[in-house]
Amino acid sequence: MTTDLTLRSVVLRRMTVSDVPGCVEVLQEHDPSQDAQEWVARLGRDVADLNKGPVVAVVENLVVGYARTLPFHHDTESPPDAAPEGYYLLGLVVALAHRKRGVGRLLTAERLRWLVERGTASVYYYTHRDNVASQLLHEQMGFRGLTRKFWFPTLLPDHAEVLFCLHLPSTTAKAADSQGATSCPPRST
Ligand SMILES: CC(C)(COP(=O)(O)OP(=O)(O)OC[C@H]1O[C@@H](n2cnc3c(N)ncnc32)[C@H](O)[C@@H]1OP(=O)(O)O)[C@@H](O)C(=O)NCCC(=O)NCCS
Repeated sequence: MTTDLTLRSVVLRRMTVSDVPGCVEVLQEHDPSQDAQEWVARLGRDVADLNKGPVVAVVENLVVGYARTLPFHHDTESPPDAAPEGYYLLGLVVALAHRKRGVGRLLTAERLRWLVERGTASVYYYTHRDNVASQLLHEQMGFRGLTRKFWFPTLLPDHAEVLFCLHLPSTTAKAADSQGATSCPPRST
C-alpha cells in the first residue's frame, strides 16, 4: 500500500529482516535507554513470528515508523484481572521528524486491516493514561476505553496504563475469534 502524505510517498509494508536497523533507529530515538542489541533480537523474533504481523512505514527508503500485533493467551499463572485474551496492537512508534502527518494512523489502519482479514473479532490496545496523542489516534479509529485496572504480563503491578478495545467488522465465516474474545467486554472502572 502506498499513500501520498504532504507530497511524500509513505509505503506501508510487512517488516522484513532488512528493516531491523531502521526500526532500531526509530525505537532508540524514542527510548534511548533501551539497548540496541536487545531491540535487534526482539525485532528479529517479530519478523519470524507470523502471528505478530509487524509493519513498517517507509519514506524514501527510510523506516519512519514501526508497529506490531501480539496474540495474548491466558495460562495457569494468569490472575483473575488479566486483560482479555485476543490480539493486541503494540509497539507503535513514529520517528519524530515524521509525526503528525498521518503515519501512526496508517500503521494502525494497516494492522486492523490485517486482523480483519484473519477474522479477528475484537482487538485491544493499552497506553499510559497521559498519552493523549496515542489515545486520540486510537479513539479516531473507534477504540473505546475499558478499564485502568488490568493485569498484563509485561506491565508492572502499579502500572498507569488504560486498556482500550475495538470490535472489528466480521468479513469472513471464521468470525469467531480463534485467538480469544469475540466482543469487547463491558467497561469497568
Ligand atoms: C502516538 C504516535 C504514534 C502518533 O503518531 P503520528 O504519526 O504522529 O500520528 P498521526 O499523524 O497519524 O495522528 C493521528 C491522530 O492522532 C492524534 N495525535 C497525533 N499526535 C498528536 C499530538 N502530538 N497531540 C495530540 N494528538 C495527536 C490526532 O488526533 C491525530 O489526528 P489529526 O491528524 O486528525 O489531528 C507518535 O506520537 C509516537 O510515536 N509517539 C511516541 C510513542 C508512543 O507513544 N506510541 C504509542 C504507544 S501506545
